[in-house]
Amino acid sequence: MNLAKRLQLIKPSPTLMVTVQVAALRRQGIEVIDFGAGEPDFDTPEHIKEAAIAALRQGKTKYTPVGGTAEVKEAIIAKLQRDNGLTYSLQEVTTNCGGKHTLFNAFHALFGEGDEVLIPAPYWVSYSDMVILTGGQPQLLPTSEETGFKITAAQLQKAIGPQSKALLLNSPSNPTGAAYTENELRQIAEVIERSNLLVISDDVYEKFLYDSSRCAHILTLKPQLRDRVLLVNSVSKTYAMTGWRLGYAAGPREVIVAIETLQSQSTSNPNSIAQAAAVAALTGTQEPVGVMAKEFAKRRNYVVQRLRAIPGISCTLPEGAFYVFPRVAAYFGTKWGEKTISSAMDLSLYLLQEAQVALVAGEGFGSPNHVRISYATSMQILEQGLDQVEAALKRLGRV
Ligand SMILES: Cc1ncc(COP(=O)(O)O)c(C=O)c1O
Repeated sequence: MNLAKRLQLIKPSPTLMVTVQVAALRRQGIEVIDFGAGEPDFDTPEHIKEAAIAALRQGKTKYTPVGGTAEVKEAIIAKLQRDNGLTYSLQEVTTNCGGKHTLFNAFHALFGEGDEVLIPAPYWVSYSDMVILTGGQPQLLPTSEETGFKITAAQLQKAIGPQSKALLLNSPSNPTGAAYTENELRQIAEVIERSNLLVISDDVYEKFLYDSSRCAHILTLKPQLRDRVLLVNSVSKTYAMTGWRLGYAAGPREVIVAIETLQSQSTSNPNSIAQAAAVAALTGTQEPVGVMAKEFAKRRNYVVQRLRAIPGISCTLPEGAFYVFPRVAAYFGTKWGEKTISSAMDLSLYLLQEAQVALVAGEGFGSPNHVRISYATSMQILEQGLDQVEAALKRLGRV
């Protein structure tokens, strides 16, 4: 089949591929521990489900305005005011079929041939391929453990060139869990202010932050950037609603209109029931979010402590999200039967087959010396999975 050329430029999401592999192994009756999950293991809170059921009963089963109902937009506006101290109008927010779709729409609204998009690496798997789909060019800004997996203002300043169109900020980050401090973010904001850069702030993990003093938003710190920042968020992670598919954007009206135009010619409105559920999520009790965050914090500490006790593994303490991103390169060069493990991908395959633990190799995140472990699973499973990983790494006989 002669497929469109642009499809040859991208690859399937590696994180979703792990989910597929796990499902396939489970269908064969093999018990696999899944550390690949990019979603909370908690159920959607009851009051949100009830709101969805009520919406169904009330017959809210028809098309809605393309960018969402006035109710869901009002709920988003109220949330942004309450949580972020940011004021938006109805014309400055829109909803989409998940945060991923929000980003996809936004990239297509903003980027095209010749545009460079600055992406701190390691980065969430979809950013770079989504930029490529628009005809734009991802420009990676490498970070490491030494900088806490964060870019510096000086690094950003140096990277800005004539073609640079936007910077992607994702704090707390997937896959590293790194979160910018107010001070770091303020310095970055100052560089941006002196440039023409747009900012896309992907805030989907904002509620999962374990050192509370760090919860900073670039717009709160530098309101002058308001007409150059597109805020992206979603109910997926915050409210354990990944399957509902409801994401949203807030930003300059022109961008919002462009996103809605694109959406009007592609998906139309996001699911009407999910919109009603999102209203309950955003305006109802926030207690379940706190419960999840508390549990994630406990698991984070446990996983990091276990990983640090394994010879050859080093692991920064992630400030947020629900991932740890240990360095595993010390195991490169070890033997797995006839094979030599020479990459994170090889090591992940080894752990899947020999430890029955699925995790995501760092290559997809632009970081070939690391793997991503999700702790969005119970303590008991974490304990068992880490036992299996530890034993399997010991068998590789290194370090
Ligand atoms: C950094 C980041 N942004 C956006 C998303 C999109 O999430 P959703 O489409 O479920 O809202 C994800 C999901 O994994 C993510 O990790």
